[in-house]
Amino acid sequence: MNAPLPPLTRIPAEIVAAADYLPHAQARVSEATWAWLCGGTGDEQTLRDNIDAFSRIRLHARPLADLRDGHTTLELLGQPLVHPIIVAPVAYQRLLHPDGERATALGASALRAPMVLSHHASMRLEDVAAIAQSPLWLQIYLEGDRGQTRALLQRAQAAGVRVIVVTVDTPVAGVRNREQRAGFMLPPQVTAVNLPEGSVSAGVTARPGESPVFASEMVPRMPTWADLEWLRGETRLPLVVKGILHPDDALRAAKLGVDAIVVSNHGGRALDGVPASIDALPAIADRVALPLLLDGGIRRGGDILKALAMGARAVLVGRSCMAGLAAAGAVGVAHVLHILRTELEMAMVLAGCRDLSAIGREVVWHPASRC
Ligand SMILES: Cc1cc2nc3c(=O)[nH]c(=O)nc-3n(C[C@H](O)[C@H](O)[C@H](O)COP(=O)(O)O)c2cc1C
Repeated sequence: MNAPLPPLTRIPAEIVAAADYLPHAQARVSEATWAWLCGGTGDEQTLRDNIDAFSRIRLHARPLADLRDGHTTLELLGQPLVHPIIVAPVAYQRLLHPDGERATALGASALRAPMVLSHHASMRLEDVAAIAQSPLWLQIYLEGDRGQTRALLQRAQAAGVRVIVVTVDTPVAGVRNREQRAGFMLPPQVTAVNLPEGSVSAGVTARPGESPVFASEMVPRMPTWADLEWLRGETRLPLVVKGILHPDDALRAAKLGVDAIVVSNHGGRALDGVPASIDALPAIADRVALPLLLDGGIRRGGDILKALAMGARAVLVGRSCMAGLAAAGAVGVAHVLHILRTELEMAMVLAGCRDLSAIGREVVWHPASRC
């Protein structure tokens, strides 16, 4: 394999869709980093299903609608947004580009998209906040002690973070076979710099004969509903729970007073075999009145239209933005977001939707409806 190329300084004209960034990104990172970015868990059933499920959904085209004054604006968690596209939290972005999370923040700012900074970010929260011109949200895991979480929440508030996102679907990392086969390891210069040294779990270890997971030191540290309740009491910022797929869990989170839910399977990186998040969304939307966000498998603006039609208020985009980052830094992130937003607007026009409030389940075509 050739050594990774330097980031693009000019966007080639043949990049016209988000997926067109993939080969340019792949040429700029090591084989192991590519496996980390693109891989899922186990046999990657859920990873594949996140994409396939979108392609199974069909839409109605509705010509001749009056679309004057059309727009994609919305209000989410008390904040005005110009479109419903958010950059998902992705760990260790300096693996993908030397400017890491700061480049992502710049790219997101150019498109006025909120960015969710990962708990495992490789750049300091304050440094990313200083460059971000669009709303910065912070994602956390409830994995350290409460004092550590409290300190991070205080830093977030001081840095002007607008929303806290707590990810609950990966108390263990899951079986990341693609990464393991590629020999992925974090290089020593890329670390989770916002956390005390040594606080990110090195993984599961067990003595011979012991249960490798249940007997490990990690189990007592895995978060429970009581921890979520504690967190709700700790911050006055809007609190979003990421990684819910079951309607009963969504209802329980709503009762605890969270402000929104991200219906997500962690991009196929948590439990392999769970449904695509777009397939899990309607049952949750039927039972929970909270704003729902969705991520997993968004590759086209048409996918965003489908997600909104099924009950999401907005979507998070992970790997597509990261392909833009790896290929071309901030410009690549901005371009991916621009492509997705343009495609969403095109899809809205062709589906006869003047604004986001016009997008409902009737936009989705059902074979049984015969029309
Ligand atoms: C390489 C990688 C690292 C990720 N790191 C985090 C993380 O630190 N925190 C988190 O909540 N989600 C993390 N995610 C999950 C994303 O936030 C998001 O749920 C997922 O990427 C959405 O699917 P998509 O990549 O198909 O858009 C990560 C995803 C990838 C691909």
